[in-house]
Amino acid sequence: MDTVKFTQMKDGDREDYAFLTEHETEYAAGTADRLLTAMVELDKSLSGYKVTRLGHSLQAATRAWNAGADVDWVVSALLHDIGDIYAPYNHDEYAAAILRPFVREQCAWVVEKHGDFQLVYYGEHVGANPHKRHAFKGAAYFDDCAEFCEKWDQSSFDPDYSTRPLDFFAPLVREVFARKTYDPAVVRSGQREALSNAALARTRSAT
Ligand SMILES: [Fe+2]
Ligand SMILES: [Fe+2]
Repeated sequence: MDTVKFTQMKDGDREDYAFLTEHETEYAAGTADRLLTAMVELDKSLSGYKVTRLGHSLQAATRAWNAGADVDWVVSALLHDIGDIYAPYNHDEYAAAILRPFVREQCAWVVEKHGDFQLVYYGEHVGANPHKRHAFKGAAYFDDCAEFCEKWDQSSFDPDYSTRPLDFFAPLVREVFARKTYDPAVVRSGQREALSNAALARTRSAT
């Protein structure tokens, strides 16, 4: 069997769908590597800053790593702007949709809202509402998103920052996207992890 027998989905049988499921599982296993390739594509997007989009993403992930943040945070920081490629007007939601099955709910929420939170830094200059984040006042992860933007996002446009390469983060991306999807032990709904861990930061800076 090279392809299914049907030309309309409603005519497919159990054998067809078992065949497709096998292919889908195989294809899904390559997600991490496709994302890593897409990150390289980011290098060509959105010029005008002092760093490329890939440079910005790597810098955000490096800051997360250096802060001692856990793998969910580091990978979320790395991929937070991946939506720029195909969804420039809702890049935050796009990135969150990619991450959501594989990371803590806290991280997916922060990535989804980071675009609105970032406006506090430049909204007034572009005719947008700088206080758009106020709509989320009282949300469980409000402070985390504010911290994410302040420490890792708005700050990561410095061409002189010592940024780690994509190869350094590749194993972390593969680890996260090899997880069982929507695993409650990963999603940990409502639970927060700090964006920094001083002990881990010290260990990492020593290597
Ligand atoms: Fe962004
Ligand atoms: Fe960003």
